[in-house]
Amino acid sequence: MAIEKTYSMLKPDAVRNRHVGEIIARIERSGLTIERMELGMVTPEQAAANYAEHEGKPFYNGLIEYITSGPVVKMVVSGEGAVKKMRTLMGATNPAEAAPGTIRGDFGLIMDENVIHGSDSPESAEREIGVFFGA
Ligand code: TYD
Ligand code: MG
Repeated sequence: MAIEKTYSMLKPDAVRNRHVGEIIARIERSGLTIERMELGMVTPEQAAANYAEHEGKPFYNGLIEYITSGPVVKMVVSGEGAVKKMRTLMGATNPAEAAPGTIRGDFGLIMDENVIHGSDSPESAEREIGVFFGA
């Protein structure tokens, strides 16, 4: 498998509930490398760009409001098959369905606040890294 980069973001509930350290430890233990990391707010423009594929869906407005509601941890993570590896560590989108041992399964309770974002493809990763860290 090729060395790739992915964009990962610890969402406002992860920061608010003080799960940042444990989640980063899991990422590091998996063998992936954190290349860049920044704690800060997501602007409405960045939120819209990151979630453009969901515009018009019933949960879209709530999602934008939520992701801009408090500080997040923005990361570029790299390694062999990093995109898929992060998605595996994250678990299913709905924390109620995410397996125990996954980040969403262990630290999330509800779909609206599901702890962590991870790019869904190398192409999405490149676009999202551009949105949050610049080209
Ligand atoms: P999606 O890209 O489908 O999930 P993932 O984050 O696993 O790639 O959806 C983006 C985010 O939108 C998801 O993390 C949580 C939120 N969301 C809802 O609030 N309700 C929903 O029904 C869906 C599908 C997503
Ligand atoms: Mg997605």
